Amino acid sequence: MRETDFFNGVRVPVIGQGTWHLGEDAAKRKSEVSALRAGIDAGLTVIDTAEMYGDGASEELVGEVIRGQRDEVVLVSKVYPHNASRSGVVAACERSLRRLETDRLDVYLLHWSGGFPLSETVDGFEHLRAAGKIRSWGLSNFDQDDLERAPGGCATNQVLYNLGSRGIEFDLLPWQQHRGMPLMAYSPLGQGPTLLAHPLLAEIGERHGVTGAQIALAWVIRQPGVIAIPKASSLEHVRQNVGAGAVVLDSEDCLSLDNAFPAPRSKQPLDIL
Ligand SMILES: NC(=O)c1ccc[n+]([C@@H]2O[C@H](COP(=O)([O-])OP(=O)(O)OC[C@H]3O[C@@H](n4cnc5c(N)ncnc54)[C@H](OP(=O)(O)O)[C@@H]3O)[C@@H](O)[C@H]2O)c1
Repeated sequence: MRETDFFNGVRVPVIGQGTWHLGEDAAKRKSEVSALRAGIDAGLTVIDTAEMYGDGASEELVGEVIRGQRDEVVLVSKVYPHNASRSGVVAACERSLRRLETDRLDVYLLHWSGGFPLSETVDGFEHLRAAGKIRSWGLSNFDQDDLERAPGGCATNQVLYNLGSRGIEFDLLPWQQHRGMPLMAYSPLGQGPTLLAHPLLAEIGERHGVTGAQIALAWVIRQPGVIAIPKASSLEHVRQNVGAGAVVLDSEDCLSLDNAFPAPRSKQPLDIL
């Protein structure tokens, strides 16, 4: 699978794994652990979680998944805005590290902009970085104007990006690409059924011998500097998402997708879930 620069010279495959809603149902735990581990084995080594997901349940699941293979993964977690004071961010990170059974995060994100001044949050991040508890920090759900005002040192910005939500192509995505700041694309499958039911995806998929979901994912990562983090809780979905890394869309595919899912022609408000 193609790789891209992430932070501090670390390169990662352009497809990783999301974990929202994983770890919340004891009956599904075993299959979710197997799915995430299969993804890591197949190269989907960026794992995205957050203290918010299942009130820590997702981080605990990820802790179990990476036990004995911490060095094989690039671990991303997020702090709640209401915990993002200078001291709050440090305490929240310590709690996340305990749940994740590790001594460090690779990337620590502010989940979205909140009440504390960003400079205070970044002070907390820098303190964690100096202490070796995080290797880098970044932001999430920040639009271009907010990013422009952010203190230097932001490794990445994680935002909604999929065929049905293309607003960032007008300004934010090129802005990040120009600065070499990788963009983490969340909900790259549009959270599943509605987007994936579009008949054009199946039609293009048929030409390539893959599924419509693989086309949707291949489309997200066609752009340089984009890391997609689909969430999949079954082995079959993980297998498909790995395979999407090898799908190359041609200009005819991209043109018909542009017709069905038009690119923005003007500034759009940042889509947020
Ligand atoms: N920073 C933020 O504010 C933010 C917001 C939202 C999400 N995120 C992150 O981004 C990750 C991904 O976003 P998401 O979970 O919202 O949505 P998503 O990844 O776009 O979609 C997940 C849905 O797609 C299904 N799926 C996965 N692979 C598939 C395949 N090959 N074929 C068909 N269906 C497939 C999953 O089903 P199964 O589970 O049954 O496999 C699940 O229902 C999250 O898990 C989270 O880590 C971040």
